[in-house]
Amino acid sequence: MLIRRIKCVRNLGIRYNSSHYVTTPIFYVNAAPHIGHLYSAVIADAHCRYQRLRNPEKTVRLCTGTDEHGTKIQQAATLHGIPVAKYCDDISERYREVFRSASIQPDDFIRTTEERHKRAVAHFWRTLHSRGHIYSAAYSGWYCVSDETFLTDSQLRLDESTETRFSLESGHPVEWTEETNYMFRLSQFQDDVRHWVKQEARIRPAKFEKILLDTLSEPLPDVSVSRPSNRVHWAIPVPDDDSQTVYVWLDALVNYLSSVGYPNKEFSAHWPPAQQVIGKDILKFHGIYWPAFLLAAGLEPPGQLHVHSHWTVDGQKMSKSKHNVVDPVQAAQQYTMEGLRYFLLREGVAHSDGNYSHVKAQRILNSELADTLGNLLSRACAKSLNPGQIYPSADAEHLADLLRTLDATKRLQESLLQLSERCESHYECNHFHLVADTAMAALHAANNFFESSRPWTLKAGTAESNQPRLETIIAMTMDALRLCGIVLQPIIPQLATRLLDKLRVPTAERGWNYLAKSFASSPAHLGGSCQLDGQTSALLFQRIVEENPTKEEHKPQPAKRIKSKKKDRRETMS
Ligand code: ME8
Ligand code: MG
Repeated sequence: MLIRRIKCVRNLGIRYNSSHYVTTPIFYVNAAPHIGHLYSAVIADAHCRYQRLRNPEKTVRLCTGTDEHGTKIQQAATLHGIPVAKYCDDISERYREVFRSASIQPDDFIRTTEERHKRAVAHFWRTLHSRGHIYSAAYSGWYCVSDETFLTDSQLRLDESTETRFSLESGHPVEWTEETNYMFRLSQFQDDVRHWVKQEARIRPAKFEKILLDTLSEPLPDVSVSRPSNRVHWAIPVPDDDSQTVYVWLDALVNYLSSVGYPNKEFSAHWPPAQQVIGKDILKFHGIYWPAFLLAAGLEPPGQLHVHSHWTVDGQKMSKSKHNVVDPVQAAQQYTMEGLRYFLLREGVAHSDGNYSHVKAQRILNSELADTLGNLLSRACAKSLNPGQIYPSADAEHLADLLRTLDATKRLQESLLQLSERCESHYECNHFHLVADTAMAALHAANNFFESSRPWTLKAGTAESNQPRLETIIAMTMDALRLCGIVLQPIIPQLATRLLDKLRVPTAERGWNYLAKSFASSPAHLGGSCQLDGQTSALLFQRIVEENPTKEEHKPQPAKRIKSKKKDRRETMS
């Protein structure tokens, strides 16, 4: 049987089914969302938007949601004096709300407290059990509640003065735990998981593949997959054994299956996920446990894990438990959600941590969205140059003349000709920062062209007045804006839509294949003129002005707490 299973794994390769299923982690509801969580969701959303733009015939499906069981949640609710179910409802809703305001468009928002998920977990458990991968055993070890995992001695640091042990990776304290648990035979999947990890483009960026292979070079221990229900009662019961509840990580990982309808047959239309977006903190769970669980259940593991690094503040991981988080709602009041989306995708790179800084965000947004993109649109739509408020047609002779006589025209043309291919290859790797770079380079070239061609000298009433040439310059500028608007839709969907609306680009002409139709490839593409949309403002992005310039760099706010009567009472008492 093992041989047959291995054979099936070896044959996996990349499968092209008609569905492109993408997931984010499901987030713990122990505190409100911060920009780290938003970041994962924005990556997955931009990835899906690009996939839809590039392959309109594909079914693209995005799932996100909240992870609501376990000691950590139990403790957080108790701390706030709120019934745990209500606590989960409140925080889950905040995630939903933040994602909605950031234009994240999931096809499903799953909560692990939903019945459909509990059914899926029970079925998954029974499958593992009936296939002989789960056994009962006495278990003892150091458990880290914050990380919801047992840790080995080599993963701990001992503080000799207090005799307390901490998780080396997260810094959180651990406690000694002895109990009878169900164990999963992870040790039997070492070779299969290693084989899965090593497939081409399986784990991206490659440095995370290496980390997994390092872990896999040591024998994998079996893993405890249940807890006594008297200790962890806020969890899914183990089927046919009320004295145990399902380990939160097994419960949580199954969400990816529940969302697509597992165990009903319909789930196979989407299975396996094409891409799962995760932070590097949960690599072991997704890169080792998850493929092993799936293989044990006879299911195909995911096509790709896209692993991203962390946002830090003062060099420390931004995290709920460290109270050093940046609140996306507050940040959006300063830069707008689109601005925040742009900043996260522009500044974040998957392979290394990024330091969050207000000064950096302000500088990037002002220079790129306001001065480079926004300003060019304002100039092309300025009443002084464009009194009729039109997207004009170009004159072939003037176009040819500009290409011949003005270097900046040639540079713009070259930049636009490369736009589609370059951005496509960057999007395919989720290199959003390089997409933004490429689009900004094209917009710089367009600004340069506009400046060098001096359209203001050509308008009516000036010595060199030349309407056809003026309109040609405006048409070429608008063409560059149109192409950059199409390209940037996955990154800044609202702003790009406003830009394309203003230019009256028909909805049906905003797809990737319309990038090939521009003056850069053929003057024939600069067709008839049309009226600009008067309802849409030409002011795309307002410059961010520091209210108080002496104010120190933005400091992260303590995590916002849900108001709790108990806590208020304690505060008044002290
Ligand atoms: O781990 N920078 O949930 P979680 C970037 N429920 N991304 C960050 C981040 C930071 N500073 N902090 C968090 C859990 N994230 C489990 C997941 S999945 C089946 C279960 C993002 O609320 C990043 O994606 O702790 C990270 O992996 C995730 O939030 C962890 O969120
Ligand atoms: Mg976490």
